[in-house]
Amino acid sequence: MNEISVGILGTGKYVPERRLTNQDLEKMVDTNDEWIVSRTGMRERRIAAPEQATSDLAYEASLQALQAAGLTADQIDLIIVATITPDMFFPSTACLLQEKLGAKNAAAFDLSAACSGFIYGLANATGFIKMGMYKHVLVVGAECLSRITDYTDRNTSILFGDGAGAVVLGQVPEGRGFKSFKLGADGAGGDLLRICGGGSRLPSSEQSVNEKRHFIEMNGRDVFKFAVRVMGSAAEEALAHAGYTKADIDLLIPHQANIRIIQSALERLNLSEDKAMINLDRYGNMSAASIPLALAEAVEEGRVNEGDCLVLVGFGGGLTWGASVLIW
Ligand code: UT7
Repeated sequence: MNEISVGILGTGKYVPERRLTNQDLEKMVDTNDEWIVSRTGMRERRIAAPEQATSDLAYEASLQALQAAGLTADQIDLIIVATITPDMFFPSTACLLQEKLGAKNAAAFDLSAACSGFIYGLANATGFIKMGMYKHVLVVGAECLSRITDYTDRNTSILFGDGAGAVVLGQVPEGRGFKSFKLGADGAGGDLLRICGGGSRLPSSEQSVNEKRHFIEMNGRDVFKFAVRVMGSAAEEALAHAGYTKADIDLLIPHQANIRIIQSALERLNLSEDKAMINLDRYGNMSAASIPLALAEAVEEGRVNEGDCLVLVGFGGGLTWGASVLIW
């Protein structure tokens, strides 16, 4: 029996309306537009309305992805939501989304791999479809990072935003679809990027709140060094595994953490900047939502053509990383 080719049938995205600009941040912490733009490339981010939670953002992006795929919610067999900002501990955001969509035939679970979560989700979905267990899988990256960001900390508050991206995976013609995945983790670097409060190690308490343990803690410089190392190597390994080379890449869809991290990956892959989808200037870093949202915008802008070789690559807390080669 020939192996099924699995690819993307439709993409969708959603960002909240409210904008948080560098000028807004100048009034909140000791920073300035020039520093933020030159060190990160970011200019503004979107912030969810008070009544919006991650599943609401995921819902809007999913509706678009379903429509683009030409499918109804009841044709979805599995929902995977990659997020570090679930609506609540449980039920999973995927179950909340299943209910909102009316995807009554779908199994549903959340996936925790921080900013690499969407690529981990794609790998899971592809495996399920290839083994014949499911036909259509909805994979979503969705975050409300504004809820876990300390807006008195200039090291982190300038970086993060809210948003969601979604894709529907299913069978595609032979020769197209996902050609490889490279996933990795290094738990030894877990303390470089984390939230400690609220889990079983440090349950929520007055003290945990006062000590700000429910916000993102990050060693920016070390995460930066890790990211520069791993973005290029993960992409190269995924390419080699798929039997492709750097010269084959038509478009890089990188995690949108910092323009300088993306530039170093481009250098290593011998690519010019027009070969990368970059939208961090408008949205900042949306963790698991960054890659699917960049992909959805690239499709929307007509930057992705049939037969193109795309490389998706990201890194994040865990530490984790992931890359994939996708023939559109
Ligand atoms: O999805 C993964 C999540 N995280 C990341 O990807 C983060 C990766 N890291 C980074 O993107 C960068 O390390 C940052 C953007 C976080 C920081 O940039 P950097 O070039 O590594 O700056 P730095 O931490 O080395 O700080 C340089 C200087 C410091 O001042 P001194 O010690 O040289 O006097 C900081 O205190 O810049 C200062 N600084 C700021 N100044 C103005 C740090 N944050 C700010 C700020 N505004 N917001």
